[in-house]
Amino acid sequence: MNIILFGPPGAGKGTQAKKLVDFYGIPQISTGDILRANVREGTELGLAAKAYMDKGELVPDNVLIGIIKNRLNEPDCKKGFILDGYPRTVPQADALAGILDEIEKPIDVVLNLEVADEELVERISGRLMCKCGASYHRTLNPPKKEGECDICGGEIFQRIDDQEDAVQNRLNVYKKQTQPLINYYSKQGILVTLNGARDIDEVFEDLKAILAKFA
Ligand code: AP5
Ligand code: MG
Ligand code: ZN
Repeated sequence: MNIILFGPPGAGKGTQAKKLVDFYGIPQISTGDILRANVREGTELGLAAKAYMDKGELVPDNVLIGIIKNRLNEPDCKKGFILDGYPRTVPQADALAGILDEIEKPIDVVLNLEVADEELVERISGRLMCKCGASYHRTLNPPKKEGECDICGGEIFQRIDDQEDAVQNRLNVYKKQTQPLINYYSKQGILVTLNGARDIDEVFEDLKAILAKFA
């Protein structure tokens, strides 16, 4: 099963991806998590990406295309994958099509999580993260034990780009650069849009129902 989880910042891509990983046993490929890991480790790539990320701008396409090509060629992607946060531009989508053509793994479905801007801002500004990629929310989805990740026990923190200035910019960048992909995948007949503004578990049940035919 080869899936793209699509949607604006805060739509719940990461939250749902983690649940899909547990349920289907295929890897989540979050370009945001990969970039943040590089920033943390101080790699050359991380140093180059950080300035864009902190402002809520997209990291240049050539960097992302390289990352995704390497990742999709790793053996754990043979049985399928969940793309989370990639593609975000038309050139990224075109490059993905080329990579997937080469490894003969076409996208089955693009799941588009729809959530209104106001709720996105509330979700993002209250979000807490763990370095393992798990995300929580101060009030909407708190960890079981305060300050500690349910999954790995790690310390949870707020992302720099979840502070107010960057949040609005991320929404604008999404609308300008990423939203056109809705039409791109819709034309290919593989886009399914669902209401992401419901309970985490309700959204997940919906996703499973849609994915049942690809499993
Ligand atoms: P990335 O990490 O991908 O950030 P994003 O797209 O801004 O998305 P988020 O992680 O903010 O949202 P999400 O949909 O995963 O929501 P979540 O599940 O956490 O990218 C970060 C940066 O990296 C980019 O700005 C860019 O600079 C760079 N980058 C990454 N990929 C790139 C690419 N392909 N090209 C170029 N640059 C790239 O949920 C959000 C919050 O809501 C959480 O608090 C959660 O607990 C809560 N929540 C989730 N679902 C629900 C629900 N149903 N009800 C109530 N609360 C909920
Ligand atoms: Mg995310
Ligand atoms: Zn964790």
